[in-house]
Amino acid sequence: MRGKVVVITGATSGIGQVAAEKLAGMGARMVLVARDKARGEAALARLREAGPGVSHGLYYADLSRIAETKRIAATIAAVEPRIDLLINNAGALFGTRQLTEDGLERTFATNHMAYFVLTEGLRQRLWASAPARVINTASDAHKGNQLNFNDLQSANNYSGFKVYGRSKLCNILYTRELARRWAGSHVTANTLHPGFVATRFGDESGGLFAFGVRVAKTFAISPEKGAETIVYLASSNEVSTTSGSYFYKCRVATPSREAQDDAAAKRLWEETAKLAGLPAGSTAPQATPASR
Ligand SMILES: NC(=O)c1ccc[n+]([C@@H]2O[C@H](COP(=O)([O-])OP(=O)(O)OC[C@H]3O[C@@H](n4cnc5c(N)ncnc54)[C@H](OP(=O)(O)O)[C@@H]3O)[C@@H](O)[C@H]2O)c1
Repeated sequence: MRGKVVVITGATSGIGQVAAEKLAGMGARMVLVARDKARGEAALARLREAGPGVSHGLYYADLSRIAETKRIAATIAAVEPRIDLLINNAGALFGTRQLTEDGLERTFATNHMAYFVLTEGLRQRLWASAPARVINTASDAHKGNQLNFNDLQSANNYSGFKVYGRSKLCNILYTRELARRWAGSHVTANTLHPGFVATRFGDESGGLFAFGVRVAKTFAISPEKGAETIVYLASSNEVSTTSGSYFYKCRVATPSREAQDDAAAKRLWEETAKLAGLPAGSTAPQATPASR
């Protein structure tokens, strides 16, 4: 990883924090996107210890907001001449339905829209830096869910865990479509389930869910273990050309049938581009029709 530049979100806590420190320890220069100043500074200080002698970067954005995500992508793209890896990892679960300033349901906005908008904003840098990799943290919580394109903002029958599961289904469908569209660009896109990991995840989701998560976490794996698949996807030569796959425990895994639906993946991309106010046609210039 020496000399590689890695942009990562959600590295102020949990799985992303450990993954960032591991990759810094392997010689990568880490560029963090954080939302909180104190947590960001603390993460940067830990990176300087894990990967000394490298000028790690830190930027601030609330990734639940489209304008913020576009702004930070443009800033990073202007400052960083090359980006070898993008790790979209920031995520959250909300026990009650909330809307963002953009009028989007907050789980969908944070967990799905931000992955799309940040990746689009860094697209030219990633393509120019090829071979490069995009890694999107998803979850097995996608299983048992399907997308309702008539209610992507979950206006009806809100359930925090179901809505979270659908946002993670979006991560897998989005990664699938990204891999298809960017085929031939030599930028791969893969997604993963980290396992059930004892992090701060769910602590602020409120109500019964937060309580349940706290109890369940006694059975969860450590953030060190949970970060292993991200580190593997970021650094292993074994996956240098693998794209569009879902990983668990550093192996290709099979997501749900709904997560393998190419028509849904295509439609999600189009709807997301519309919501983000971005053109829908980001296909790699040298792309060949994907054969999966
Ligand atoms: N824990 C699990 O069992 C589990 C299982 C499957 C998948 N995952 C996935 O793993 C990823 C990381 O979760 P984790 O378990 O490590 O949780 P975590 O400890 O709560 O970390 C979440 C990270 O996302 C950041 N974040 C949340 N909302 C943000 C926003 N609006 N803007 C910018 N950053 C934001 C947080 O920043 P702050 O530090 O400022 O809060 C933090 O760095 C998520 O995508 C989650 O869905 C987790």
